Amino acid sequence: MRKHKIRSGMIGLALILAPGIAQAQPADPLAPTGRWTANTDGQAATPPMGWNSWNAFFTDMDEEKVLASAQKIVSSGLAAKGYRYINLDEGWWEKRREDGRMLVRTEKFPSARTDDGSTSFRPFTDRLHAMGLKAGLYSDLGRNTCAQAYMPDEPNLPRGNVREVGLYGHIDRDIGLYFGEWGFDYIKIDGCGLRAYGPDSALVKSGRYRELDPILDLRDVNKSDIPAVRDLFEQVKVALARHASDGDYLLSLCIWGSANVRSWGKDVGNISRTSDDIAPRWDALLTNFDTAATRALYAHPGSWNDPDMLFIGKGDFDENHLVEAQSHFALWAMLNAPLLIGTDLRKTPPLLMDVFGNDRLIAINQDKGGHQAVVADRQGDIQTLVKTLANGDKAVAILNRGSTPQDATLNAAQLKFRNDAPVRLVDLWKGTAVDFTGERSFRLAPHQTLVFRAKGARSLTDGMYLSELPGVVNPAVDGVVRPKPDPTIDPPIYAGWDGAQADRTPYGRGLQVAGRHFVNGIGILSNSRLEVKNQHYRRLTVSVGVDNSATDAKRPVTFVIYGDGRPLARSAALRRGDAAQDLAVNTSGVKLLELVARSEGTDNEALPVTWGDAAFRR
Ligand code: GLA
Repeated sequence: MRKHKIRSGMIGLALILAPGIAQAQPADPLAPTGRWTANTDGQAATPPMGWNSWNAFFTDMDEEKVLASAQKIVSSGLAAKGYRYINLDEGWWEKRREDGRMLVRTEKFPSARTDDGSTSFRPFTDRLHAMGLKAGLYSDLGRNTCAQAYMPDEPNLPRGNVREVGLYGHIDRDIGLYFGEWGFDYIKIDGCGLRAYGPDSALVKSGRYRELDPILDLRDVNKSDIPAVRDLFEQVKVALARHASDGDYLLSLCIWGSANVRSWGKDVGNISRTSDDIAPRWDALLTNFDTAATRALYAHPGSWNDPDMLFIGKGDFDENHLVEAQSHFALWAMLNAPLLIGTDLRKTPPLLMDVFGNDRLIAINQDKGGHQAVVADRQGDIQTLVKTLANGDKAVAILNRGSTPQDATLNAAQLKFRNDAPVRLVDLWKGTAVDFTGERSFRLAPHQTLVFRAKGARSLTDGMYLSELPGVVNPAVDGVVRPKPDPTIDPPIYAGWDGAQADRTPYGRGLQVAGRHFVNGIGILSNSRLEVKNQHYRRLTVSVGVDNSATDAKRPVTFVIYGDGRPLARSAALRRGDAAQDLAVNTSGVKLLELVARSEGTDNEALPVTWGDAAFRR
């Protein structure tokens, strides 16, 4: 493995090897494909909802505890509101039998006992299915797991001689067992086995675990073997297609934003973790929120950002911290995050059950448009997020990140509504309505999130800006060559930086081409290709140019718009300082648009480009 490592500098350069020809030809990653390449397989048209054992019990779970929460989900009415996945996280396994078959820990899951000792989760999944629920399971992409590596004192770690319970070397067989034989519907796949078992690790030196040359590095994205990690997940996807052939599966990627998974996880899985594990603390919530909040363009129906499971019920989010618990839920709803409850529902007080059951916020999260909220503003501790809903309404959340009360101002322009027409806000916690014209001030308690549904008169009357529609915009190639830690996140470790952004440059600045500011638009690096689904609009209009924030003033960029694979418009070669060029194309009958910005060289980070005011028009 070590000899054949392909380094991350080669992302996007797929090699086509013609039979009999020794020389490799790099394919052009910017060539139009005429198709939407983000994942739509599996069951994730809207973000998954349900329950997971980890935050409630860590590995100390058993059948009784899990089924009690499942029963509560049904009896409380949460199942009817969409919470349907009941997911077992780490802690369910006994060991891998010598012949390779995985065995269930039957002392914890008695219904899995069989006369011949082979164990089966089928009675358990049958039980969940009979309750109208779905069943989820946990595994690791390496040979060994996270708890084995980092939580040696946890109960229920694998036992026996062969403690290699991960998928590595067993992908097809394990997926066949979990989905085909046992009837699971969901799998969460961790990456600890790909990162913690190197030759120098104490785990391997102790002789307890076999060495696996790390291909994943959580701290340094460029030390990961990105193609190798992706290839393993692709193998899982192939196995799922075979063993869950009815397509009733959900694939959850859990590699915490590493290996630049932002750029490719959306093409492979249904949800993809953007950060390390959440903890029941306000600062941890903010970090996890920040890793997903600037990735709106990387989430679409079928492939969502996952800032980790809900921790409502514990620590800073328990019943004594209702403000924080409500903020957690509202922010996750706005981000189109999976809503996976992580608490022991046997003991959850009604106040918190009401948080999980807030129909208005569930509707925001499950809105069919599939548009993740976009960060519209940040002033000190106040952050405003706006999410476009399928019927044209907006959801707006105003977050007070800080620990002192704050005044915040919402203005109609942040909603892309007119300043001179009334806006109606419905408070999604209280159900009450308020009206304003122009702007309105609010007083926020520490850590409070106000969240509303908003109706108003649109500034752009005959269409929608692409930046309002992240669910139909896919940065198929985002130009990122050397992913960097995001310095705006504390601690700055994940590759959330330099990606495509709605209404911002890839580095979070306002969009500007020569003397012109664009409040609306897509910011992305050069040598990029955006795929855009057309939902029956007749025209696309845009003003293109190299963004003023580019550090390279010499290299020109050419912008081309394709419709279903055919070129529709092309700009002149534009350098930094050149005026934005207007392009307009007829999109009648066109299903997929591709917006390509191309330049010489690979130093794309020096050339942020702006698709200013990019909009679909009727
Ligand atoms: C990792 C994941 C967690 C959980 C644990 C289980 O840390 O990120 O969500 O699944 O593994 O060990």
